[in-house]
Amino acid sequence: MSAVRASHVWKVFGRNEKEVVKRIKAGADRSEVADLGTAAVIDASFEVSRGEIFVVMGLSGSGKSTLIRMINGLWAPSDGTIEIAGKDISAMGPTQLRQVRRDSISMVFQHFALLPHRTVRENAAYSLDLQGVPRKEARERADEWLNTVGLGGWGDKYPNQLSGGMQQRVGLARALAAETDILLMDEAFSALDPLIRREMQDQLVELQSTLAKTIVFITHDLNEAMYLGDRIAVMRDGRIAQIGTSEDILTRPTDDYVANFVQDVDRTRVLTASSIMQDTTAVVRHTAGPRTAMRLFERERVSGLFVIDSTRHLLGTVDDRAAVRAAREGATALSDYVETDGILTVGPDTPLSELFAPSSTARVPLAVVDGDNRLLGVIPRIAVLSSMSQVGPSTGEMPAVTPLPANVEPQDDAEAFTAQDDDAPEPKPGIAAAGAGDIHEAEEPPPGDHASEGPTDDTMGADR
Ligand SMILES: Nc1ncnc2c1ncn2[C@@H]1O[C@H](COP(=O)(O)OP(=O)(O)O)[C@@H](O)[C@H]1O
Ligand SMILES: [Mg+2]
Repeated sequence: MSAVRASHVWKVFGRNEKEVVKRIKAGADRSEVADLGTAAVIDASFEVSRGEIFVVMGLSGSGKSTLIRMINGLWAPSDGTIEIAGKDISAMGPTQLRQVRRDSISMVFQHFALLPHRTVRENAAYSLDLQGVPRKEARERADEWLNTVGLGGWGDKYPNQLSGGMQQRVGLARALAAETDILLMDEAFSALDPLIRREMQDQLVELQSTLAKTIVFITHDLNEAMYLGDRIAVMRDGRIAQIGTSEDILTRPTDDYVANFVQDVDRTRVLTASSIMQDTTAVVRHTAGPRTAMRLFERERVSGLFVIDSTRHLLGTVDDRAAVRAAREGATALSDYVETDGILTVGPDTPLSELFAPSSTARVPLAVVDGDNRLLGVIPRIAVLSSMSQVGPSTGEMPAVTPLPANVEPQDDAEAFTAQDDDAPEPKPGIAAAGAGDIHEAEEPPPGDHASEGPTDDTMGADR
């Protein structure tokens, strides 16, 4: 059961809600029916799992606050249903609704909404007072939550004695003190200075790692969305344009609108090695003979191969010269010719920002390996560069491999190759494996390096 579930939810502000819904369903544009009412949310469907941070992102006026207010039960949908922990709140009477709101949902607002004449402690205890928790216990619990959000010792102060960031911590403590499963946050950090804002984001991520709340977080800031969201819903003109992980949205935007929206995001924080690694057939088993290797050099048009064992553990690389030498020396397997120096491995979750340095010095593509050193894929330098420039991996257009040296004669001893062909490992289906061998410097650097642009005042910078 999902914590929050919205099914074909609509909200129209105006005289004739149902008529607007009907006309838009029949194909009218929301602008055509604007005189009848404002369609703030149009046919929104999504589910939020327990423990998930679900971010709703969109420009101002796209319907985010309206959506969260329906989740909160403040506004009833014009059409469709909202379920909280399996219960349809759109069908509830006021008393029942109040109970669900009090027991299951807390909210953090952009402008803190603290009571000015109550102390910080009393503000933090507010939701507990509403829940009927005895006064002393409520104050004690409030103090604990103030501690948790870094405001230990501030309980006796008044809100106006605190900075904006601290006031929002009180807002957060108040919401957390209620100990509800669901936390709704509407632009909760948007009014804060960029630096404070980052601290709050980090704090939220840290708290979430132990509290595992269900969080619906609204923001118009894409970097914030990508940093916090397990999944993101992109809203446009009342509709949800796309729902997906930040990686989905970056790498597979559903339409031009989403693509344009995300083009300025700081990709280095979002993309990881696994999202840009490539398949390769330029791998060879250590038991293979030199002729198998030479045939692969020819077929793959590379001068280096990754060497793996029968369970795909990465042993090293072998280059064309070593294979020729092995053949000359009558070796039957490549194992003694495997080079282990100069090969750089990264984990699948390594952020893009940490791939530049190794990739810039690596002789061969970076190898992406799992925790057991099994080869998952490879990352040629050009893939790192092009992912930054949003050109998309374009190794096909570039001389991504070193041409064969002249002294390696392509072998045409059909029998020998057939005999050894079985040595060549079949890339296992489902395992994304490695890309081509050595790479040349791209002749022209890819254009438009967005990620090197500094943070704008509304974003969070490139350093994480
Ligand atoms: N109480 C209201 N009455 C009439 N129109 C409203 C009301 N609240 C929001 N709207 C309209 O609904 C649309 C979506 O607003 P909102 O949900 O606040 O967007 P966001 O939070 O994404 O900025 C806007 O066109 C806004 O003017
Ligand atoms: Mg809003």
